[in-house]
Amino acid sequence: MGKLTYVKSASQLLCMDTGHGPRTGKGMSMLGIIADGSVVIEDGMIVFAGSDALAAQFLGSRLGDVEVIDASGKVVAPGLVDPHTHVVYAGSRENELELRLQGEKYTDILKRGGGILNTARSTREASEEELIRQALVRLDRFLLHGVTTIEAKSGYGLTVKDELKQLRAARELDRRHPIDVVPTFMGAHAVPEEYRSYPESYVDLVIEEMLPAVAERGLAEYCDVFCEQGVFDIAESGRILEAAGRLGFKLKIHADEIAENFGGAELAAKLGAVSAEHLLKTSEEGIRALAKSGTIAVLLPGTALFLLERAADARSMIDGGVAVALSTDCNPGSSPTVSMPFVMNAACLTMRMTPAEVLVASTINAAYAIGRGDEIGSIETGKRGDLVLFDVPNYRQLQYYYGMNLVHTVIKNGRTVVK
Ligand code: NIG
Ligand code: FE
Repeated sequence: MGKLTYVKSASQLLCMDTGHGPRTGKGMSMLGIIADGSVVIEDGMIVFAGSDALAAQFLGSRLGDVEVIDASGKVVAPGLVDPHTHVVYAGSRENELELRLQGEKYTDILKRGGGILNTARSTREASEEELIRQALVRLDRFLLHGVTTIEAKSGYGLTVKDELKQLRAARELDRRHPIDVVPTFMGAHAVPEEYRSYPESYVDLVIEEMLPAVAERGLAEYCDVFCEQGVFDIAESGRILEAAGRLGFKLKIHADEIAENFGGAELAAKLGAVSAEHLLKTSEEGIRALAKSGTIAVLLPGTALFLLERAADARSMIDGGVAVALSTDCNPGSSPTVSMPFVMNAACLTMRMTPAEVLVASTINAAYAIGRGDEIGSIETGKRGDLVLFDVPNYRQLQYYYGMNLVHTVIKNGRTVVK
C-alpha cells in the first residue's frame, strides 16, 4: 500500500458529491458540506471522504505511515478547475488597457493589427522552449490561487507550424508542471494579417491542414472558434466546428462576446458543443437553446470587467436551467489574470451568483466543461486527490473577504504543492 495523505478536521469539507453530470438550477447551490470532515488520499486518489470519527475508523492502525495535514478552522474544497485559458503565449499588451480606457474598442484594436494579432507576432517569434518558460511562470501562479487543472487553447500561432508549436508547448506544460493541462485547438482565433484579403482561404487552411495535422498528432481534445462579428461568422464557425467534429474533436465556442445576439449560443447548442463561452450578449432564445442542449455556459466575469463591459446574465442562465461554469480566460489581451478566486468574487459581485453557486461553477461544473467530470471537481472516493484548503472557517467568507487570496494549502494528486 502507498503512502497516505490524511487531511483532517476541516471546519467545512465541501464534497460537491450531490449529483451526477453538470449541476443546474438548485443543484448549483448544493455543496455536500461535512462539518469536521476528513479526506484520505492514497496513490494520488481519494480513498475516503467523511466525518473525522469515521476517518479514524477507516485508518485503523495505519496512523504510522500517514502524512497528516491539519485543516482545522479551514474550508477544504476540490482543487479549482479553470476550463478556459489562453495561457501559452509570448509578450504582454498593457498598452491596450489604456487605449480601452480612452474609449477604443477591443475589436477596433484587432482590426488595426493589434490585439490577438499583436500576440500572434510575438508568439510566432518565440521558440517552443521560450513559450514553455513564460507559461510555467503563469502556471506557478495559478497553483498559488488554488487551481489544479486548466484547459489551454492554441490560437496565437495562426500558421500550421506555430499552432502545432503552441499545442506541443501545452503538452509539455502538462508533463512538467503539477497542474493538469487539457489542450484545445483554436486556429480560428483571428484571421492572420497575411490572409486579410482572403479570409475564406484561412478558413480552408484551418479545415484542410491545421485540423488534420493536430488530429494526426493527438495534440488537442477540443476545437474552439472565436465566433464574432468581424472575426469568424456563424457560417464559417459552423464549417470549422463540423469538420472538427468529424475528426473526433469535442467542441467549444467563444460565443456572443461583443456583438448583440450574434447567434453563437444557438450554434453551440445546434452542434452539441460541450460548452459555449463568454455569452455577454446572448439572447433569451440563446439561453433556452443552451439549457435544452445541455451545453455548459463558461462565464468569464473578469474579462467583462477588464473590457469595461456588462457581465453575462448568469442569473437568467442559472434560473433557466443552464449549467454555469467560471473561468479566468487567462490571456494577454482581455483578461491577463490567473486568479480563479478573483473571478469567483467578480461572479458574485457583478453577476449576482451566490457564494455556493460560484463554488459549484469553479469545481464540478468546470470539470464537466473540459470532460473531466468523472475524475475531478468533487471530493469523492475514486476521484483524484486534488484539494485546496482556504484559510476561512466557512465557504461564505470566500466571497465576503473579497479581493484576497485566501488559499492556504494546495494538494495535487495527494502531494502538497502549495503550503
Ligand atoms: O477569450 N475573445 C477572444 N479571445 C480571447 C482574447 C484573446 C486576446 O485578446 O488575446 C478571449 O477573450
Ligand atoms: Fe478566451
